[in-house]
Amino acid sequence: DAMYDEECDYLFKAVLTGDSGVGKSNLLSRFAKDEFRLDSKPTIGVEFAYRNIRVRDKFIKAQIWDTAGQERFKAITSSYYRGALGALLVYDITRRSSFENVRAWLVELREFGGEDMVVILVGNKSDLVESREVEEKEGKEFAEKEGLCFMETSALKNLNVEQVFLQMITKIF
Ligand code: GTP
Ligand code: MG
Repeated sequence: DAMYDEECDYLFKAVLTGDSGVGKSNLLSRFAKDEFRLDSKPTIGVEFAYRNIRVRDKFIKAQIWDTAGQERFKAITSSYYRGALGALLVYDITRRSSFENVRAWLVELREFGGEDMVVILVGNKSDLVESREVEEKEGKEFAEKEGLCFMETSALKNLNVEQVFLQMITKIF
């Protein structure tokens, strides 16, 4: 559950998950620090960042865990799902395999995270229109079937990044 913290009303944990290279670390650095890197390195294990947000009259501190997408870290990363109230499950709209793997990530999230974790499906790299392999409609339909929220984002162009995190946070509180 959300914990009490002195400087804020609530402290809660959320996770970022999905295949390697889909842009999880850049979504988080865009949200937490307004930074983007074209040459970012794959995440090793897990990293985290905080951001304070105000939702209605509440001050909320979001602790967001950015997990590694690489297969070799699977055992470590899934152990971080425990206690998370929200998750952004990210795929890359220019890489169909990352969309096909969403189903498996969802199984992991549901197995190791809480039953009522708020999961948002995120199609990232919406700026790369020329190389799109997954239609927005497909993401939306999958999300509807699984009872998830859905949004396409671009960490590069800073499109919908703030919105996707805020949607998750507002859904939790
Ligand atoms: P792992 O840590 O290995 O799981 O990968 P990740 O999901 O954290 O991916 P990361 O954020 O490191 O981004 C991978 C590559 O995609 C980097 O070269 C980024 O610059 C690029 N990238 C991330 N987001 C976007 C985006 O919205 N648009 C474009 N064009 N490139 C992006
Ligand atoms: Mg990363």
